[in-house]
Amino acid sequence: MMQSGSNSPIGVFDSGVGGLTILRAVRQALPCENLVYVADAAHVPYGEKSPQQIRDRAMAIGGFLIGQSAKIIVVACNTATAAAIDHLRERLCVPIVGVEPAVKPAVAATRSGVVGVLATPATLASERYRGLIERFAAGVRIVAQPCAGLAEHIERGDLAGEHTEQLLRGFVEPLLAAHADVIVLGCTHYPLVAHIVQRIAGPGVAVIENGTAVAKEVVRQLTLRGSAHTAGSGSEVFWTSGPIQGIEPLLSELWAPQARLQRLPDFHDRQDFNATP
Ligand code: DGL
Repeated sequence: MMQSGSNSPIGVFDSGVGGLTILRAVRQALPCENLVYVADAAHVPYGEKSPQQIRDRAMAIGGFLIGQSAKIIVVACNTATAAAIDHLRERLCVPIVGVEPAVKPAVAATRSGVVGVLATPATLASERYRGLIERFAAGVRIVAQPCAGLAEHIERGDLAGEHTEQLLRGFVEPLLAAHADVIVLGCTHYPLVAHIVQRIAGPGVAVIENGTAVAKEVVRQLTLRGSAHTAGSGSEVFWTSGPIQGIEPLLSELWAPQARLQRLPDFHDRQDFNATP
């Protein structure tokens, strides 16, 4: 394993392409950094798995990213953050930044006193989410809407079709009926269909996510340690645990046609992989 220094990459992972919404914000904030992105496409959706299964995957990928000499790891997935971030922080030797539903800014923004949260079933069932609501949602009604099947659907590449719109209507309309005037996109896949959520909700409803806040935290952590890379232009390498053809079309649509995509070694598919450095 190489020593990590300012030249070392930032490791970012998600169950699939959703984390690209976070990667985009990180790239914008840090144009000189090298980025390594893992899509755990063989195991999407995380949101319908047990906390232990999600932790096992997060540890396998965290270990892989440490092997790539990542100097910091971004868990670009609300579900994996909820299930595994404490576990990763205890076991890996680099700073770990996660992503959580933007409940705090939503509570500050609501005028109706009702906030809707769209997230995976696993995120909404987690202790971490409960803690978030307890800390930040006093005096506001939070209507949580589990969106089973949505991340998987987005992963298949249908970002604008009729079926996606229909699926989203089923999730968004109960929030509107409850008078939510702010909708939190609590899964990193959902910003990819934010335009549809906004269309269904109408102009009076704010649709929010927090990629920029995550990127700011990455900058803060790197600056704190003096390990930001500030010269030249950064590169990106993408890995997937699924078949290359599975995410290639969406990756070229969402990132760049020439994106460098490789298959994650099978070793990192094993559930018993021990990533402790
Ligand atoms: N993108 C992920 C999140 O932010 C998870 C989607 C899934 O695999 O269920 O929660």
